[in-house]
Amino acid sequence: MDDVLISGGRIVTAVDDYVADILISNGKIETIGRVIEAPSAQRYDATGLLVMPGGVDVHTHMEFPLGEAQTCDTFESGTRSAAFGGTTTIIDFALQKQGESAKLTLEQRLAVAEPQASVDYGFHIILTDVRPEVLTELPDLIDIEGVSSFKMFMAYPGVLMMNDADIFKTMRVVGHHGGMVNVHAENGGVIQVLIEEALAQGNTSPKYHALTRPAIMEAEASHRAIRLAELAEVPVYLVHLSAKEALESVVEARDRGLPAFAETCPHYLFLNSDEYERPGFEAAKYVMTPPLRDHQCQHALWRGLKFDDLQIVSTDHCPFCFNENLYGLNRSKQLGRDNFEKIPNGAPGVELRLPLIFDGGVKGGKISLNRFVQLTSTAPAKMFGLFPRKGAIAIGSDADLVLFDPDKPHTISVSSHHSNVDYSLYEGRCVIGKVEKVFLRGELIVDGDHWLGRKGGGTYQKRSASGVF
Ligand code: URP
Ligand code: ZN
Ligand code: ZN
Repeated sequence: MDDVLISGGRIVTAVDDYVADILISNGKIETIGRVIEAPSAQRYDATGLLVMPGGVDVHTHMEFPLGEAQTCDTFESGTRSAAFGGTTTIIDFALQKQGESAKLTLEQRLAVAEPQASVDYGFHIILTDVRPEVLTELPDLIDIEGVSSFKMFMAYPGVLMMNDADIFKTMRVVGHHGGMVNVHAENGGVIQVLIEEALAQGNTSPKYHALTRPAIMEAEASHRAIRLAELAEVPVYLVHLSAKEALESVVEARDRGLPAFAETCPHYLFLNSDEYERPGFEAAKYVMTPPLRDHQCQHALWRGLKFDDLQIVSTDHCPFCFNENLYGLNRSKQLGRDNFEKIPNGAPGVELRLPLIFDGGVKGGKISLNRFVQLTSTAPAKMFGLFPRKGAIAIGSDADLVLFDPDKPHTISVSSHHSNVDYSLYEGRCVIGKVEKVFLRGELIVDGDHWLGRKGGGTYQKRSASGVF
C-alpha cells in the first residue's frame, strides 16, 4: 500500500487544534509535522478542512432481529452509510438466543458481518440466558475474543428482559474480569401494565408508545441498574439515555465516584415528543425506545454532554422502513399499523451523527469543537477498549480520518442518504458541516459523493477492557 500524505489540514482531536501534515504508512499514522516532504506518497490537500479521528459509533443494529421484525440495513448498507457520515468504527450487537452459548452467538454474528462490513467493527453481546455454563464463558469472551461489554435489558418482558437476580449475577462475573455492562434501563414490567391498559381502552395509535413509557420508569430502572452495578462492582453504561430524571441518577452516582456512564443519541437532542402528534401512522417513524421526551429533557441532555455527565453520543441506529414494499413487512413499521405495541422499535441515524452534532452542538454554541471529537470518537474508543488504535490522531494509531468541511451546508434527505431505510427523521433539515473524505486505515473510502470502500474491507476489532475511563 502506498504512503499517503494529508497536507495542510486543521487537525482537531479531543485536546488538540493545529495545522499540520499527516503521513500514513501501512494504514497507520507514521508522522505528524508542520511540513512533511514525502514525494512518493499519494497526497491529499486538506487546506481549509478539519481533520478529525474517524467517528466511533458504539450503538448500532445492522440486520438485527427484534421480536418478529428485523432491521432493514445489512452490514453492507449500514456500514457504507456509517462511512458517509464519517464513522469508521461501529460496535454492533450479537444477540444470544435462549439456550445458545454466548461464544456461538459471537461466532455466528462475526460470520454475518465479516464478508459485508466496509468499516471496522466490534460487538457487544446481548445476554438473554445466563445459566451457569454461559457465565463461565464470559472470561474468555473478554480476554480472548475481545468482547469486553455485555448488554442486558430491563425492558421488553418475554422477549429480551432479564430479572434483577440474573442481571446482578452477570454483573459480578463481568466486573470481576474487566468488562462493563451496558443496560437498557426501563421498567419493563410496569410499562407492560400501561401498554395493556392502553390497548384495552382501544388506544392503538403510535403516540401511545410514548405515553406508556414514562420518563420516571426510565429513571427508576437507571437507578436500579446503577445500584446493582455498585454492589456487583462493575462499570455500568446506560444506553440511549433520554430522560432528565434518568440523567439525575447518573450524576448522583458519578458524584459518589462510581464508574457509571451514559450515552445519549441525536434523536433525543434534536427531536421531541411533539412528533407523536403527526397525523395518521406517520408518528410510527418516531417509535423508538425510550421515546422522544420534552424540551426540558433536551436541555438537560445538552448540558450533560457539555459537563461530562454524559460521555458519549451514539446513534442507536435501528432502522425499519416505513413502507413494507421495499424489504417486506417484517422490516417495516407497518407491522404495528393496528397496534402500537407491534411497531418495531427503533430509528435510523448512523450517517447523521457527526453532521447533526457538529451543527447543533458546535455551530449552535452548546459544545466546543474538541468536545465534539471527544463525544463522537475519542470517548467511545476509550470507553470500549479501542483507544489509542481508534479515536486518536497520534503516531501509531490507525489512520482512520475524516476530512470535514465546517462551512458547507447540507440538506438532510432520504434521497441522498446511503442507508436502506426509506425515510429520514430529519427530512429537509439544513445543517452546516459536511464530511468530504473518509480514510479507513489509510484507504480513501469516501470521496465527496463517491463510494470507494470495499464490501468486507472492514475488520473485526478485538477490544481491551471496557469502562476504564
Ligand atoms: O428502539 C430501540 N432503541 N430499538 C433498538 C433496541 C434497543 O433497545 O436498543
Ligand atoms: Zn436498548
Ligand atoms: Zn439499541
